[in-house]
Amino acid sequence: MSYQPHISVVIGTRPEAIKMAPVIHALAAAEDMRLSIISTGQHREMLEQVLTLFALKPDVDLHLMTPNQSLSSLTEKALNGLTRYLDQAKPDMLLVQGDTTTVFAASLAAHYLGVKIGHVEAGLRSHDMANPFPEEANRRLTSVLTTLHFAPTPLAKKELLKEGHDDDTIIVTGNTVVDALLRLSDKLGPGLAPHLMPLVGEASRFVLVTSHRRESWEHGLPDICGAIGDLAAAFPDISFIYPVHRNPRVHDVVFAALGNVANIHLTDPLDYLSFVNLMRDATLFLTDSGGGQEEAPTFHTPVLVLRSVTERPEAARLGMAQLVGTDRALIAEKAAKLLTDEHARQRMRQGSNPYGDGRAAERIVEALRRYFGGETPILPVERQFQPQGKIAQ
Ligand code: UD1
Ligand code: UDP
Repeated sequence: MSYQPHISVVIGTRPEAIKMAPVIHALAAAEDMRLSIISTGQHREMLEQVLTLFALKPDVDLHLMTPNQSLSSLTEKALNGLTRYLDQAKPDMLLVQGDTTTVFAASLAAHYLGVKIGHVEAGLRSHDMANPFPEEANRRLTSVLTTLHFAPTPLAKKELLKEGHDDDTIIVTGNTVVDALLRLSDKLGPGLAPHLMPLVGEASRFVLVTSHRRESWEHGLPDICGAIGDLAAAFPDISFIYPVHRNPRVHDVVFAALGNVANIHLTDPLDYLSFVNLMRDATLFLTDSGGGQEEAPTFHTPVLVLRSVTERPEAARLGMAQLVGTDRALIAEKAAKLLTDEHARQRMRQGSNPYGDGRAAERIVEALRRYFGGETPILPVERQFQPQGKIAQ
């Protein structure tokens, strides 16, 4: 048998596992490549939920999570733990996904050891190092060290080109989260699963909420909670469902602010299938999540993005999302408009998902095969992802 390149995939948090699951499954099915999976364990329960759902079994788990971990201690432990593993396993390429501490530490460890890096979801840019923090820095630092950039969209490719990365090394794949989502949505029934019904109760409609961004902890999150409280009071016939992130800096603030309101349902993080079911059937989705912004357009669920700036502007440019920031009055005003004006809501339900078409993992594996086989281009342009509809660049 000819040489099989060894591809290591590293994951650490919930969104990395969701977004790498399709890539891992595609690599596992490729007989001409060897796969190993590393988990830093940056997250614990929230990662376990995804590993179980997608039947992912890491070859090594560094079990790094500690309560209220600091960025620097996590980075230090991840750098050392990953260095030990990579030095012994010596993969031909390490695949990292996104912009977390795991991604940056893994990229640095690989670079120090001369291991090539493939960056999945490369090229997202907010152009603001403080928003999101520290993710904008993590993904920029990773790009500098990367050999193959798997850009999800043409806009992400454009950002990488502006930074001087070589056109030949950038492959537009679509976002792998759409692959994960489409695969799962086949498993969903027509309405809400029975175990989710109590979250809606007697209400006629529901709004789904998530918020966890580090840069929002001080001012943004209390304002977001204030807006949800105002909306719940103004719309007693609507249920507000908020699966709260386990980070104590988020969890404690949200439960203190919204824990005792009849039509607000705070829950632990939901398993991905349940969450996707809610996202599909929600009247409105309020979120600061990166993945959430990329998923909702598949279901035509209108999104209010609870951030001042986003590195995922495509949905807003198509009118499928609105960037509202974290101002209490503005969030309440924009949400109220969409909850009372059916035409305004319907206008946001047009178009197809600009972030992907469900074939990203297939493109990544094909590009890896061609790269290690010495073929150029790494993936012909006509096989790369092209969103439908005109997105203002
Ligand atoms: C991290 C990522 C962020 C990503 C988010 C996805 C960084 C710097 N941040 O933020 O980019 O959007 O994950 O959710 O990489 N915790 C638990 N159980 C869990 C997960 C977290 O208890 O399963 C608690 C722990 O107290 C932990 C804290 O949350 O110390 C913070 O986790 P961490 O991964 O450092 O930051 P996130 O805010 O989750
Ligand atoms: N998600 C989930 N359960 C929840 C909330 C979110 O499975 O209770 C999924 C969501 O569909 C998306 C991902 O988690 O795929 C987003 O993760 P998160 O918001 O933690 O991180 P981000 O995308 O902002 O980095």
